[in-house]
Amino acid sequence: MKNVVLVGYMGCGKTTVAKILSERLKIKRVDLDQLIEIYSGLSIEKLFLDKGELYFRKLEHQLFLDQIDNLEPKVLSTGGGTPCYFDHHKLLQTDKVVSIYLKASLNTLVNRLKFGKKKRPLIANKTDDELKEFIAKHLFERNYYYNQASFVVEVDGKSLQEIVAEISYLLA
Ligand code: S3P
Repeated sequence: MKNVVLVGYMGCGKTTVAKILSERLKIKRVDLDQLIEIYSGLSIEKLFLDKGELYFRKLEHQLFLDQIDNLEPKVLSTGGGTPCYFDHHKLLQTDKVVSIYLKASLNTLVNRLKFGKKKRPLIANKTDDELKEFIAKHLFERNYYYNQASFVVEVDGKSLQEIVAEISYLLA
Protein backbone atom coordinates (compact mmCIF):
# COMPACT_ATOMS: atom_id res chain seq x y z
CA MET A 1 0.00 0.00 0.00
CA LYS A 2 1.31 3.42 -0.96
CA ASN A 3 1.10 6.54 1.18
CA VAL A 4 -2.39 7.98 0.89
CA VAL A 5 -2.22 11.77 0.84
CA LEU A 6 -5.36 13.83 1.44
CA VAL A 7 -5.39 17.37 0.07
CA GLY A 8 -7.98 20.10 -0.17
CA TYR A 9 -9.02 23.48 1.12
CA MET A 10 -9.32 24.28 4.83
CA GLY A 11 -12.55 22.81 6.16
CA CYS A 12 -12.95 20.12 3.50
CA GLY A 13 -12.57 17.39 6.14
CA LYS A 14 -9.04 16.06 5.58
CA THR A 15 -8.27 15.35 9.23
CA THR A 16 -11.63 13.72 10.02
CA VAL A 17 -11.63 11.62 6.86
CA ALA A 18 -8.03 10.54 7.58
CA LYS A 19 -9.06 9.24 11.01
CA ILE A 20 -11.78 6.95 9.68
CA LEU A 21 -9.88 5.98 6.55
CA SER A 22 -6.74 4.92 8.44
CA GLU A 23 -8.88 2.77 10.75
CA ARG A 24 -10.56 1.17 7.79
CA LEU A 25 -7.30 0.54 5.94
CA LYS A 26 -5.57 -0.49 9.17
CA ILE A 27 -2.59 1.75 8.54
CA LYS A 28 -1.28 4.63 10.60
CA ARG A 29 -2.38 8.22 10.29
CA VAL A 30 -0.21 11.31 10.28
CA ASP A 31 -1.62 14.82 10.39
CA LEU A 32 0.89 17.28 8.96
CA ASP A 33 -0.36 20.28 10.99
CA GLN A 34 -0.18 18.23 14.16
CA LEU A 35 3.35 17.16 13.27
CA ILE A 36 4.33 20.81 12.71
CA GLU A 37 2.90 21.68 16.13
CA ILE A 38 4.80 18.86 17.82
CA TYR A 39 8.02 19.67 16.00
CA SER A 40 7.90 23.42 16.69
CA GLY A 41 6.35 23.17 20.14
CA LEU A 42 3.85 25.86 19.08
CA SER A 43 0.24 25.82 17.95
CA ILE A 44 -0.32 26.74 14.28
CA GLU A 45 -1.81 30.10 15.39
CA LYS A 46 1.18 30.87 17.60
CA LEU A 47 3.62 29.72 14.92
CA PHE A 48 2.15 32.13 12.36
CA LEU A 49 2.06 34.91 14.92
CA ASP A 50 5.53 34.49 16.42
CA LYS A 51 7.55 33.22 13.47
CA GLY A 52 5.52 34.21 10.41
CA GLU A 53 4.03 32.31 7.50
CA LEU A 54 7.34 31.78 5.69
CA TYR A 55 8.80 29.94 8.68
CA PHE A 56 5.65 27.81 8.80
CA ARG A 57 5.87 27.03 5.07
CA LYS A 58 9.53 25.96 5.34
CA LEU A 59 8.77 23.66 8.24
CA GLU A 60 5.72 22.31 6.42
CA HIS A 61 7.94 21.66 3.38
CA GLN A 62 10.58 19.78 5.34
CA LEU A 63 8.09 17.65 7.26
CA PHE A 64 5.98 16.93 4.17
CA LEU A 65 9.05 15.65 2.30
CA ASP A 66 10.04 13.51 5.31
CA GLN A 67 6.60 11.91 5.30
CA ILE A 68 6.54 11.28 1.55
CA ASP A 69 10.05 9.82 1.58
CA ASN A 70 9.13 7.48 4.41
CA LEU A 71 7.44 4.61 2.62
CA GLU A 72 5.77 3.12 5.69
CA PRO A 73 2.11 3.06 4.59
CA LYS A 74 0.04 5.79 6.14
CA VAL A 75 -2.82 8.17 5.58
CA LEU A 76 -1.32 11.67 5.56
CA SER A 77 -3.68 14.59 6.02
CA THR A 78 -2.04 17.79 4.82
CA GLY A 79 -2.77 21.46 5.47
CA GLY A 80 -4.85 23.38 2.96
CA GLY A 81 -1.75 25.12 1.60
CA THR A 82 0.61 22.13 1.48
CA PRO A 83 0.25 21.25 -2.25
CA CYS A 84 0.52 24.92 -3.25
CA TYR A 85 4.14 25.60 -2.23
CA PHE A 86 7.63 24.34 -3.19
CA ASP A 87 6.31 22.32 -6.15
CA HIS A 88 4.61 19.89 -3.77
CA HIS A 89 1.83 19.46 -6.33
CA LYS A 90 4.28 17.54 -8.52
CA LEU A 91 4.85 15.05 -5.71
CA LEU A 92 1.13 14.25 -5.67
CA GLN A 93 1.62 12.40 -8.94
CA THR A 94 4.70 10.33 -8.11
CA ASP A 95 4.42 6.59 -7.64
CA LYS A 96 5.25 6.91 -3.94
CA VAL A 97 1.76 8.19 -3.18
CA VAL A 98 -1.90 8.02 -4.05
CA SER A 99 -3.33 11.48 -3.58
CA ILE A 100 -6.97 12.38 -3.07
CA TYR A 101 -8.46 15.85 -3.42
CA LEU A 102 -11.42 16.21 -1.09
CA LYS A 103 -13.41 18.72 -3.09
CA ALA A 104 -15.97 20.87 -1.31
CA SER A 105 -18.05 23.65 -2.84
CA LEU A 106 -17.60 27.28 -1.87
CA ASN A 107 -20.84 27.28 0.12
CA THR A 108 -19.90 24.19 2.08
CA LEU A 109 -16.50 25.64 2.92
CA VAL A 110 -17.90 29.02 3.95
CA ASN A 111 -20.54 27.42 6.18
CA ARG A 112 -17.97 25.20 7.89
CA LEU A 113 -15.23 27.79 8.19
CA LYS A 114 -17.53 30.43 9.73
CA PHE A 115 -17.32 28.27 12.83
CA GLY A 116 -13.82 26.92 12.35
CA LYS A 117 -11.88 30.05 11.46
CA LYS A 118 -10.42 30.86 14.90
CA LYS A 119 -7.66 28.30 14.71
CA ARG A 120 -6.80 29.17 11.13
CA PRO A 121 -4.54 32.22 10.92
CA LEU A 122 -5.23 32.95 7.24
CA ILE A 123 -8.93 33.57 7.91
CA ALA A 124 -9.14 34.15 11.67
CA ASN A 125 -9.78 37.88 11.36
CA LYS A 126 -12.23 37.88 8.44
CA THR A 127 -15.84 38.89 8.91
CA ASP A 128 -18.44 36.50 7.49
CA ASP A 129 -18.81 38.70 4.39
CA GLU A 130 -15.07 38.94 3.82
CA LEU A 131 -14.75 35.21 4.37
CA LYS A 132 -16.84 34.25 1.37
CA GLU A 133 -14.96 36.56 -0.98
CA PHE A 134 -11.59 35.48 0.38
CA ILE A 135 -12.34 31.77 0.06
CA ALA A 136 -13.75 32.18 -3.45
CA LYS A 137 -10.55 33.84 -4.70
CA HIS A 138 -8.21 31.63 -2.72
CA LEU A 139 -9.93 28.45 -3.83
CA PHE A 140 -9.75 29.59 -7.42
CA GLU A 141 -5.97 30.10 -7.10
CA ARG A 142 -5.43 26.84 -5.29
CA ASN A 143 -7.67 24.60 -7.40
CA TYR A 144 -4.90 24.08 -9.92
CA TYR A 145 -2.70 22.50 -7.26
CA TYR A 146 -5.45 20.40 -5.69
CA ASN A 147 -6.44 19.09 -9.10
CA GLN A 148 -3.01 17.49 -9.54
CA ALA A 149 -4.14 14.77 -7.12
CA SER A 150 -4.59 11.23 -8.45
CA PHE A 151 -8.32 11.31 -7.63
CA VAL A 152 -10.96 13.90 -6.87
CA VAL A 153 -13.67 12.99 -4.38
CA GLU A 154 -16.59 15.39 -4.02
CA VAL A 155 -17.61 15.71 -0.39
CA ASP A 156 -20.73 17.92 -0.52
CA GLY A 157 -23.81 16.25 0.94
CA LYS A 158 -21.98 12.98 1.68
CA SER A 159 -21.55 11.37 5.08
CA LEU A 160 -18.09 10.61 6.39
CA GLN A 161 -18.76 6.91 5.87
CA GLU A 162 -19.73 7.50 2.23
CA ILE A 163 -16.58 9.51 1.58
CA VAL A 164 -14.38 6.87 3.17
CA ALA A 165 -16.14 4.08 1.24
CA GLU A 166 -15.58 5.99 -2.01
CA ILE A 167 -11.88 6.45 -1.28
CA SER A 168 -11.47 2.80 -0.28
CA TYR A 169 -13.06 1.79 -3.58
CA LEU A 170 -10.62 4.00 -5.51
CA LEU A 171 -7.67 2.52 -3.64
CA ALA A 172 -8.70 -1.11 -4.12
C1 S3P B 1 -3.50 26.45 5.87
C2 S3P B 1 -4.35 25.46 6.30
C3 S3P B 1 -4.29 24.93 7.67
C4 S3P B 1 -2.90 25.11 8.28
C5 S3P B 1 -2.48 26.55 8.18
C6 S3P B 1 -2.43 27.03 6.73
C7 S3P B 1 -3.63 26.94 4.47
O1 S3P B 1 -4.63 23.53 7.66
O2 S3P B 1 -1.97 24.28 7.64
O3 S3P B 1 -3.38 27.31 8.92
O4 S3P B 1 -2.70 27.57 3.95
O5 S3P B 1 -4.69 26.66 3.86
P1 S3P B 1 -6.16 22.98 7.47
O6 S3P B 1 -6.40 22.86 6.00
O7 S3P B 1 -6.12 21.66 8.16
O8 S3P B 1 -7.05 23.97 8.13
